[in-house]
Amino acid sequence: MSQISNEVKEQIKKRRTFAIISHPDAGKTTLTEKFLLYGGAINQAGSVKGKATARHAVSDWMEIEKERGISVTSSVLQFHYNDYCINILDTPGHQDFSEDTYRTLMAADSAVMVIDASKGVEAQTRKLFKVCTMRHIPIFTFINKMDREAMDTFELLDDIENELGIATCPINWPIGSGKEFRGVYDRASKKVEVFSDTHKGTTQGEVEKVALNDPELSWLITDSQKLQLEEEMELQDGAGAVFDQDLVSKGELSPVFFGSALTNFGVETFLQHFLKMTSSPLPRKSDAGLIDPMKEPDFSAFVFKIQANMNKAHRDRIAFMRICSGEFEAGMDVWHMQGGKKVRLSQPQQLMASERKMIEKAYGGDIIGVFDPGIFSIGDTLTASAKRFSYEGIPTFAPEHFARVRQVDTMKRKQFIKGINQIAQEGAIQIFQEYNTGMEEIIVGVVGVLQFDVLKYRLENEYNVEIRLDTLPYEHIRWIENTEIDMDRLTGTSDMKKVKDLKDRPLLLFVNEWSIRMTVDRNEGLILSEFGR
Ligand code: G4P
Repeated sequence: MSQISNEVKEQIKKRRTFAIISHPDAGKTTLTEKFLLYGGAINQAGSVKGKATARHAVSDWMEIEKERGISVTSSVLQFHYNDYCINILDTPGHQDFSEDTYRTLMAADSAVMVIDASKGVEAQTRKLFKVCTMRHIPIFTFINKMDREAMDTFELLDDIENELGIATCPINWPIGSGKEFRGVYDRASKKVEVFSDTHKGTTQGEVEKVALNDPELSWLITDSQKLQLEEEMELQDGAGAVFDQDLVSKGELSPVFFGSALTNFGVETFLQHFLKMTSSPLPRKSDAGLIDPMKEPDFSAFVFKIQANMNKAHRDRIAFMRICSGEFEAGMDVWHMQGGKKVRLSQPQQLMASERKMIEKAYGGDIIGVFDPGIFSIGDTLTASAKRFSYEGIPTFAPEHFARVRQVDTMKRKQFIKGINQIAQEGAIQIFQEYNTGMEEIIVGVVGVLQFDVLKYRLENEYNVEIRLDTLPYEHIRWIENTEIDMDRLTGTSDMKKVKDLKDRPLLLFVNEWSIRMTVDRNEGLILSEFGR
């Protein structure tokens, strides 16, 4: 077996690939912009103009790209900080929230969760968080907007622990909030990092670090703030979880940081701690055991996202893949496991927005997009190794909106079936059929309602089929884990619907959580899952 070269090893060791998640408006875009500022990818940060109005039409990141003329993409962004090469994966929020948002988390090694200090954990964070915990990926919390009135620090930590079911360990502790925000206390160094005006975050600013017992501190924070800090620290030291890197790596303990992305405060401290606490790309599960990027010399990757028609003129598809091991070179031939043949990875690009940048090389940990002649599916494995293996598949996530769909012109049945199947194969929607009714009607499930519009638009424009969508009242879907269950004998509530997916797996649709519980109660041994494996 060939040996992995030191150069490739060094490149992979430098990589940190993480997803950034938040509820809309918590400050994800602002924090990302500040990371770029510290990484030297941009010279001056400032508010991204016109974003509020453009928000619904385009991703925030594309806006940054337009504003700053830098290499930001709607999906992945790469920059360097000190010796690290950082890949940030965006998880679109707002209306363009879709199953892709979940799948993106499959390509990350850790996640940064941005929380608004005045709001605590919000709905969208909760959903994304569930996917992170399912994969046991480390989660780092940045509590943002400390320059505004914030919730009580203990309350915020309790909120994360209760809502998300994960232990927290504050790495630093805020001193005041809003107008009274003075900075954070770094628990390891026992120094207060004092907040200074960074001119609305347009310059990097200096952070003054003062020991808690230094008399100078009385100039910087009030006596009552100092007293409160000492009391809070005593409480936290006594009752809170201690930092444990092992638990962090297993995704069981979330290190928590406080700051204000807008004014740059606490961003660099966060970045420095975070980069030390996360790891370079780790071994990934495959059907041939773990594939370790530090041992496997050859290129391997899996597809986690397919984007169709990025360029209207060419009606092309781009398959986005996460490289798990080795070195990628433009135009290389690799083995496509699921297709059972060799393919050439052509037109590799690292940019995923409207503009594309061709790349020559990439390494384990990086994300690339390659031209897809219509052969790739989500979860497919590609490898240059003589060994044949497939990476663990990407689960199917539960859609939350459902509609019955039919073509308006009955003569166009063939195009309709072809189109809807192709769009489902790309992973933009999920399609279901009623169980054992012999009816040919198709039920479409989506994670975000915008996908319904996308479906309608694409069928009309690409397949010339007009459709009618009738929304259905279901909000929950569950896969049946124990497939030996007799579907005909399964009894649920009157509003429950039995369906099957493209792979003929049996599923149940429910209107509310109560129906789910009733159905589980009524059918002994029934095991339901929120993910299709
Ligand atoms: P998102 O990507 O998570 O949706 O959030 P984004 O960064 O766009 O931030 C949402 C709003 O919150 C923006 O204001 C942004 O300026 C503000 N913000 C972000 N971080 C902080 C912070 O640390 N402190 C304060 N006070 N505000 C913060 P906006 O008025 O909605 O947009 P804009 O017109 O200022 O861009």
